[in-house]
Amino acid sequence: MTEQKKEKARIGVLTISDRASSGEYEDLSGPAIESYLNDVLTSPFETSIRVIPDELDLIEKTLRQLCDEENCDLVVTTGGTGPAPRDVTPEATEAVCEKVLPGFGELMRQVSLEKVPTAILSRQLAGTRGSTLIVNLPGKPKAIHECLDAVFPAIPYCLDLINAAYITTNDSRVKAFRPGSK
Ligand code: MTE
Repeated sequence: MTEQKKEKARIGVLTISDRASSGEYEDLSGPAIESYLNDVLTSPFETSIRVIPDELDLIEKTLRQLCDEENCDLVVTTGGTGPAPRDVTPEATEAVCEKVLPGFGELMRQVSLEKVPTAILSRQLAGTRGSTLIVNLPGKPKAIHECLDAVFPAIPYCLDLINAAYITTNDSRVKAFRPGSK
């Protein structure tokens, strides 16, 4: 049976930060994710943007909304991955995911360690809920492209496998790998 694919992907960009959500400082990481997507994706997409505090229940609820109600194909979170008491993004992500994909966190920490020794402090992970892939990124704006460059080649095929939207990338920025295609 041929799956009817959506014409436009929907991508959730979720900033999780007490200070950014209260307006104490400007959210730079969410916009950095948006500009990364604009730079790299060649297929049409629209975004659902949220900025929320580091509250476990609220993070879980927002992730469920983005996956189940807004039908996001991909949700990228930023912030709350460290060891501080208020950092609970990985716990919320694990709670809503059916499958955890450990390779994402492993690879992002590996490449990040070449930039900062404190990369080992990030507990970032990724997983799937239905036809949505959720990927955690650290809260530092410069971590956004460092981490996404590492894992993005595998994201389009991951979306294929979970029956999410078909997305394409600008090969000169990120070469998506789909096994079996040239
Ligand atoms: N990864 C990359 N690529 N670049 C960074 O600057 N900062 C680290 C780490 N991972 C960093 C990174 C630091 S200092 C921390 S505390 C952890 O991510 C967790 O950050 P978070 O709590 O804002 O998610």
